[in-house]
Amino acid sequence: MLRFMGDYMKNMLVTGGAGFIGANFIRFILEKEPDLNLVNLDLLTYAGHEENLEGIGSSNYFFVHGDICDGDLVAKVIRDHQIDTVVHFAAESHVDRSIVSPGQFIQTNIVGTFNLLETCRLFWQKSGSYSGKRFHHVSTDEVFGMLKIGDPAFTEETPYSPSSPYAASKASSDHIVRSYFHTYKLPITISNCSNNYGPFQFPEKLIPLMILNAVNGKPLPVYGEGQQIRDWLYVEDHCSAIYSILNYGEIGETYNIGGKNQFSNLEIVKSICSILDSYLPNSPYRPHSQLITFVQDRPGHDFRYDMNFNKIQAKLGWAPNYDLEFGLKATVKWYLNNQSWIESVSGNVAFQDWMNKNYINR
Ligand code: NAD
Ligand code: TYD
Repeated sequence: MLRFMGDYMKNMLVTGGAGFIGANFIRFILEKEPDLNLVNLDLLTYAGHEENLEGIGSSNYFFVHGDICDGDLVAKVIRDHQIDTVVHFAAESHVDRSIVSPGQFIQTNIVGTFNLLETCRLFWQKSGSYSGKRFHHVSTDEVFGMLKIGDPAFTEETPYSPSSPYAASKASSDHIVRSYFHTYKLPITISNCSNNYGPFQFPEKLIPLMILNAVNGKPLPVYGEGQQIRDWLYVEDHCSAIYSILNYGEIGETYNIGGKNQFSNLEIVKSICSILDSYLPNSPYRPHSQLITFVQDRPGHDFRYDMNFNKIQAKLGWAPNYDLEFGLKATVKWYLNNQSWIESVSGNVAFQDWMNKNYINR
């Protein structure tokens, strides 16, 4: 059972649990904690899919379709299910979309987070004590801005310097979460994590997009010269880091999470191509690297991210389990074996429109 300083957490609200990381987290935690009651509140935006949760048999799992910005709904969920733990994933999460239409990012990521915090504060105060309660906020390395080659990795003390509307909205939400600890003593923890990849990632993000385009013989659109560097983390490692923070993290603290897997975008795309070359020996598109196409760069594109995760390693004993070679192979295999999932999440007109506007005509 999840524990924090002798108090037990029994009823968990996961927001955004039909998205990529949220769905992986729900699968992860229900396996670790079969007695946990878990409510998944998700608006099922273009990025949320109930298919991501297919096969979850637990009778302790409940899905609520709704918006984290809806105060009445959030209050009802927290009251009806006696929620003592919130793990907050719900967000607009794609930098490219935040450049095209930033308004929804401000609404969901800032106003939605505020609404959740305020409802928890009021409900948990009424219940008499914050003991055994926790609000965990899931955030990103992008709040820190970008690094040059040779700059030291981001630590928890690095000042925020977000570049995109997405990063700025997440930075803002982090500040609001922290303010609820300082002002109201709300029992919060925060994690800032590097780029995730793995099963169930919506195919508009770099790794799944490249896998699917390559399999189908479509161009692989690399922004600029593909020299930007990200620190890649297999999604299960992110889930285990959050689990460690829920169990052993200190209230009010922030933990950086990273993978120690620093590669340029071009290196990532080439690795995917060579994995596909070996998994699909009869593909007419071999070598898949011939599909690489350099396209117009993203405006304000951050050059490099790198996370120093010494704190979570030293204080909570967490470290990533998977390196990039293992993780990429597992991810490519997963996408090759889950064709019906791919068709069901990406077959709609809105997604095809987005891809045509933003990638093909870039
Ligand atoms: P995602 O876009 O795959 O999923 C987001 C989910 O939130 C979707 O299911 C969507 O339907 C839901 N949602 C959106 N608006 C909502 C609203 N108003 N009310 C309720 N639900 C809503 O995102 P992801 O990649 O799984 O990221 C999850 C969290 O992790 C985000 O907070 C993101 O900032 C953070 N994060 C992501 C990465 C990454 O590499 N993907 C890295 C670090 C941190
Ligand atoms: P992305 O998956 O959108 O994550 P983030 O912007 O949050 O890091 O992109 C990862 C990197 O890959 C980023 O530097 C942009 C680049 N990229 C491409 O070169 N081509 C693409 O088609 C996409 C989606 C991303």
